[in-house]
Amino acid sequence: MKGNFTFHNPTRLHFGEDAMGHLVGELKNYGTTVMLSYGGGSIKRNGIYESVMAALKEAGKKVVEDAGVMPNPTYEKVMEGCRLVRDNKVDLILAVGGGSTIDYAKAVSASAYCTEDAWQKYWVRQESPECPTVAVGAVLTMVGTGSEMNGGSVITNRKEGFKRGKVFGTALFPKFAILNPRFTMTVPQYQMVAGFFDIMSHLMEQYFAGTADCTTDYINEGLMRSLIHASRIAAKNPQDYEARANIMWTATWALNTLLKCGKGGDWEVHQIGHAIGLVTDATHGMTLASVSLPYYRHVMHDGLHQFVRFAENVWGVRPEGKSDEQIATEGLACLEQWMKEIGVVMHSSELGVSEANLQQVADAVLILPVGYRTLTRDEVVQILRESM
Ligand code: NZQ
Ligand code: ZN
Repeated sequence: MKGNFTFHNPTRLHFGEDAMGHLVGELKNYGTTVMLSYGGGSIKRNGIYESVMAALKEAGKKVVEDAGVMPNPTYEKVMEGCRLVRDNKVDLILAVGGGSTIDYAKAVSASAYCTEDAWQKYWVRQESPECPTVAVGAVLTMVGTGSEMNGGSVITNRKEGFKRGKVFGTALFPKFAILNPRFTMTVPQYQMVAGFFDIMSHLMEQYFAGTADCTTDYINEGLMRSLIHASRIAAKNPQDYEARANIMWTATWALNTLLKCGKGGDWEVHQIGHAIGLVTDATHGMTLASVSLPYYRHVMHDGLHQFVRFAENVWGVRPEGKSDEQIATEGLACLEQWMKEIGVVMHSSELGVSEANLQQVADAVLILPVGYRTLTRDEVVQILRESM
């Protein structure tokens, strides 16, 4: 293990079938006005809305409703939320939903009292808030992003032509998060498996970086193995509580800052995925699934030792009599097999990427100078073509 790091995660997380029982107690730590942010209405159909409203009532809160947070939340919607926060002097933003709603809540929290252009400050210049922020709490209903226990906030700005992530500091992490695996049982199969791949992608983005022997990689391998095992069960039987609970817990640890300790990261698959999301509005996890194999096959030779380790320790590939390249290639073939088994999108053309918009997607890709290889724009185009 090399490098220096500070690990601090301030989110208090309540997990399990009884987790909602903690909501009233959590709410009592904040002032009277709560903005309830949620998506397009799934929480009204599955009964989560009523449970949350009952807790808000019991805690004596005044509720400001903020519905309609869309998947891939937009900056325009963030600005609307900021107005609601200011007009109502909101004390807590309670985000009930998936990563989009929680990311949105953090964006509103940091932007409501920002005196500068918040898009430029946070998502372009990547600065920290200097203004007062509003506390965020979360009730998670869809598994994948890890937003429930991190500072990530991914926002789409169509006017500027970018979908960009900002990782805020610990002050913007949800103060508390309620995780009941039962709440995720109504997520449609397509969204569910997209979430599974998002988790795998977070694990791989952090695994495929660095050369040191690092405890963090062993933790990561354990999480990947748990995810692969449980996702095979859940893809066949989404109502399997044990599998869904394991996946929910894995998702949180996959992106709550633990796995970057002592390591760098790659995150180029996410940059390409965000560009596809910007142009097609496709589901986040599926954008990642569609480009991962072409990307990893492209960079495999630059980080061969780690792809060998991935093959042996995650997929159980036997090394005897094989070259490193053969072992690594076999590992990626196992990844491909698993992706087909759980049923994720294998081609970006299925999401709407075509020769007609390929250059637009490529223009929106942020190329990061980290990972095993820094891509050129031509390589981005090549990977996108191979993904179609
Ligand atoms: O809007 P509603 O009606 O609630 O429906 C949602 C939405 O259509 C539905 N859904 C959620 N819970 C449900 C449910 N449907 C039935 N039953 C339930 N219990 O699922 C759909 C997708 O929800 P969304 O929140 O968009 O999904 P996800 O959690 O995958 O979030 C995706 C967003 O998070 C960002 C992505 O880029 C994308 O914008 N990410 C955030 C990260 C972070 N904060 O660290 C990291 C990730 O890499 C990712 O980039
Ligand atoms: Zn992701």
